[in-house]
Amino acid sequence: MKKTIAIIGSSGAIGNSICEVLLSEYPIKKLYKFSRKILSKDTDKIKNIVIDIEDENSIKESVKHIPKDVKFDLIFVATGLLHNENEIFPEKSIKDINTDMFQKVLLVNAIGPALIGKYFIPLLKKDIKSVFAFLSAKIGSISDNKIGGWYSYRASKAALNQIIKNFSIEIRRNNNNAIFVGLQPGTVKSFLSKPFQKNVNKQTLFTPKYSAKKLLKVIDSLDHEDSGKLFSWNGEEIQP
Ligand SMILES: NC(=O)c1ccc[n+]([C@@H]2O[C@H](COP(=O)([O-])OP(=O)(O)OC[C@H]3O[C@@H](n4cnc5c(N)ncnc54)[C@H](OP(=O)(O)O)[C@@H]3O)[C@@H](O)[C@H]2O)c1
Repeated sequence: MKKTIAIIGSSGAIGNSICEVLLSEYPIKKLYKFSRKILSKDTDKIKNIVIDIEDENSIKESVKHIPKDVKFDLIFVATGLLHNENEIFPEKSIKDINTDMFQKVLLVNAIGPALIGKYFIPLLKKDIKSVFAFLSAKIGSISDNKIGGWYSYRASKAALNQIIKNFSIEIRRNNNNAIFVGLQPGTVKSFLSKPFQKNVNKQTLFTPKYSAKKLLKVIDSLDHEDSGKLFSWNGEEIQP
């Protein structure tokens, strides 16, 4: 059956590749692409919608552009922040912790996705399997933390993983077919990873397209018991 899908953060390296792989390799009825900047034209298969996930009102307004009868097979959240050109960078040490930076990273990586859940969960299909996937990170795993650092990013992804678990518990009661998961995409060539790519072995630095294909395979294989968990690009579960 042809699928109806929403990608939040379609302008990002992984978000954009997810859109491209879906359109070229999956049977798609309609793809709703949400981003701050509209980079392509609407077609019979693609609808572009503006969203700023830091602003609850923008999220609320964005869902008004989705026709009332549309329900999604997959909602994929590909937004995220690790650094920017100005004031945001991953903290190497306690002395780098800063209120404004911490708030911004939490806002984009945890509060924004929680608000996306608030407005988009009612749009999941209920009669068949539907998936709500969030790009998270292995670095958000507390049990896996061996080297420290990156306070705000680690904390924001740990918070996101907890939010995903909460969604899975609360929504089980009224939509038993919905699966909520966090996904670790691997280390992927993108704006987000650029300053840190030199520390990564070439073989383990993925193209966005490779990661997107792997993540979509993981999503295809999910079943009900997987809801609330975090999975790596190769399908392995990551412990919280
Ligand atoms: N790349 C990696 O190696 C890696 C590893 C582990 C986890 N991840 C996770 O994967 C996700 C995607 O990362 P990426 O590598 O594809 O990075 P990216 O290319 O920098 O994409 C980030 C996306 O987030 C969007 N975004 C940020 N703030 C937003 C806001 N306020 N409202 C709407 N959109 C916003 C950006 O939109 P604009 O285009 O408007 O800026 C962009 O689409 C992130 O959650 C990241 O933590 C990535």
